[in-house]
Amino acid sequence: MERVQAGHAPMLGKRVELGPPRDGRFKGKHILSVNQFSREDLEYVFSVAEEMRTAVELVGTFDLLKGKVLACLFYSPSTRTSSSFIAAVERLGGSAIPINEVKYSSVSKGESLPDTVRTLAAYADLIVLRHPETGAAATAARYSGKPIINAGDGQGEHPTQALLDLFTIRHERGHVDGLTITLLGDLKYGRTVHSLARLLTKHDVKVRMVSPETLRLPRDVLEEVRSRGLMVTEHASLEEVLPDTDVLYVTRVQKEYFDDQAAYDAVQGSYVITADTMRRARKDMVLMHPLPRVGEIAMEVDDDPRAAYFRQVQYGLYVRMALIAMVMGRA
Ligand code: NCD
Repeated sequence: MERVQAGHAPMLGKRVELGPPRDGRFKGKHILSVNQFSREDLEYVFSVAEEMRTAVELVGTFDLLKGKVLACLFYSPSTRTSSSFIAAVERLGGSAIPINEVKYSSVSKGESLPDTVRTLAAYADLIVLRHPETGAAATAARYSGKPIINAGDGQGEHPTQALLDLFTIRHERGHVDGLTITLLGDLKYGRTVHSLARLLTKHDVKVRMVSPETLRLPRDVLEEVRSRGLMVTEHASLEEVLPDTDVLYVTRVQKEYFDDQAAYDAVQGSYVITADTMRRARKDMVLMHPLPRVGEIAMEVDDDPRAAYFRQVQYGLYVRMALIAMVMGRA
């Protein structure tokens, strides 16, 4: 099969329009934070993601990145993020080196992040990194001769998740500007929320932050997004904001950051979305969750058409395909 070029692609006899030639603005770049993306960049990412969706629906897998190798280096647990990056590169015709359990790698012998990254950069064209320390992706980028994509660095950022979250909102609601978006849960430790709040500063939205008192958004993140013009209010209970909420984004309590079980137990289970919550929500509200959930959304809600969290997973594949292709200079 011919390689897909900007313009159009022959696929199983079908011509798949891939739009006009691109400017390669992300070619060879690290993706470390959502702050790197202008509003125009977002339009570009999402237009490429749409093309990926069309291509996957038509042919499943194609040869855009034939011969390219992605290293997926995960120092902390993941189901969706690691497997979606691997699926994404394989659907683009490339291959993956999955390192999901660093305890089986030389990291367990005490190898430093810079050395591991320099080694993988010798084998792969792109490195996707998840690490428990905030700032680890930026550190890796300093030592890697190949682009790094941050797949979650401690409590810092999770830029590809926020991009797929925004893509989901666009798809489910048709637009982002003008919406009231409520972020519920562990806003203190949850990196997906930190990235999404930053990304929402590029839009004209109202944001409601709802959390237990001990899990409020870090003050520096709050000040940062407010200083960029985001309209944010903080609330202790969902009830007061539910009627106006267009998008409800729920997160789990990040147990791994709690030192003591009693503090975790005090907040775990303090908010749960049930069929009753959904009855009181807007008929067109979109319910999202980055997953995994550990009880914050009752399973009885899953069949509600407003429950978008499994569609969100699917959109993530297209967004990650787009990001990989862009960084590889092939979008
Ligand atoms: C999130 C993460 O790892 O930050 N999961 C994900 O990537 N989909 C959210 C979480 O773990 O709670």
